[in-house]
Amino acid sequence: MFEQVLGTSIPKRAADKGIVSYHLHDIRECATDAHRSVDDKPFGGGPGMVMMAPVICDAIDKASAQDVRKPKLIIMSPQGRVLDQKMVKELAGESRIMLLAGRYEGIDERVLELTGATELSIGDYVLSGGELAAMVVIDAVVRTLPGVLGAHDGAADETFKDDLLEHPQYTRPREYKGLEVPDILLSGNHKNIALWRQQQRLERTKKKRPDLLIKKN
Ligand code: ADE
Repeated sequence: MFEQVLGTSIPKRAADKGIVSYHLHDIRECATDAHRSVDDKPFGGGPGMVMMAPVICDAIDKASAQDVRKPKLIIMSPQGRVLDQKMVKELAGESRIMLLAGRYEGIDERVLELTGATELSIGDYVLSGGELAAMVVIDAVVRTLPGVLGAHDGAADETFKDDLLEHPQYTRPREYKGLEVPDILLSGNHKNIALWRQQQRLERTKKKRPDLLIKKN
């Protein structure tokens, strides 16, 4: 699952350039019984299974020991702080991040207490597991690292800069099904284009994501 995402596009390019490296660890390798169990029934009853503290903590310790830098430990969970571009930037400043992807029924609460991990959610909905969420974090963080994006793909990062959405973009043809590209973009006046774009960013944010403007104030 991870190899598909980390082995293509921008996450792959970042690794190829030596800007980042990814290390995958299978928690099951820290299981101690013949069935390689990582979870068990919840004390007190109820549906689902709970990931066991000793197995998870061993996996964290084992993975941690593979590098001298102490990792920022993050447990993917819908109960965590919801990821936004500000947090992406914060994470990009860490030299080493460890993301723990569990099944959502849960991880034994003591893992959080013992490790002091940060819980992180990618949105208010429940996924079947933390793997997809972890990949979302990786992709969002890696693309902000210096040297990862080239001049051709930098524009997309205007979105959420200053808590504003990106301005509208157009390419050829100049007219399509009766719709024309705004004249200003063909004017060659870069100062006016920049002004127009900034205005558009504000207007679109007001219209599509007014919550971003409220957050700002
Ligand atoms: N695991 C299950 N749902 C999740 C979510 N929304 N964010 C992060 N991890 C999760």
